[in-house]
Amino acid sequence: MRGKLIVCDGSNGAGKSTVLEHIKDHLNSKNIEFISTREPGGTEVGEKIREILLDKSYSNMCSTTELMLFAAARAQHIHEKILPALEKGIHVISDRFESATVSFQQYGRGLPSQIVDQLNDLALGDFRPDMTIVLDLDPVVGLERVRSRGEGLDRMEEVDIEFLERARQGYLEQAKSYPERFTVIDATQSLENVVEEALATIDKQI
Ligand code: TMP
Repeated sequence: MRGKLIVCDGSNGAGKSTVLEHIKDHLNSKNIEFISTREPGGTEVGEKIREILLDKSYSNMCSTTELMLFAAARAQHIHEKILPALEKGIHVISDRFESATVSFQQYGRGLPSQIVDQLNDLALGDFRPDMTIVLDLDPVVGLERVRSRGEGLDRMEEVDIEFLERARQGYLEQAKSYPERFTVIDATQSLENVVEEALATIDKQI
């Protein structure tokens, strides 16, 4: 049987990494075969592209370049890593995916939806994740959490709060349009509740 692609995505600072760790522990405890990966990145080429995308010294990168780089990393990711795993029956857990491009480049940067759809289609064909878990959080709270980690902000985080608000709306709109393949979790809840909801979503899929 073909594996499934489950994505964890959402607002910066919403606890994605912690939730992903719990998902991995959960699947391991059930002896379910899976790989975990991330976007941008997940392959050697993709990780190089990630360095460019997140590098603060490229503050003059235009939105079209940004869109094409995310799509380029995605094309490599799907062909080199994700589809081969799924075809072997191995599940894939990805930290972000195409939903982030719709949220950040379309809703956030304001690029036209037809162009963003075309780039996602170019990278993915008609393939889409089986389920995308969106951790939803007010970006003001999210950025505060990111800052409190003391890691500094990357190029995609050094933006105005309105950009992040628009991106958040982008996730909520996608979830409204495709309820069968998006689950929104309120990330203001206790971590315990967020993890519980995320694992329940995973159990329904896998
Ligand atoms: P992260 O590893 O902290 O999630 O960083 C990735 C950043 O890139 C994050 O700010 C979201 C952003 N992003 C996009 O803008 N578009 C995309 O398609 C992806 C995958 C991520």
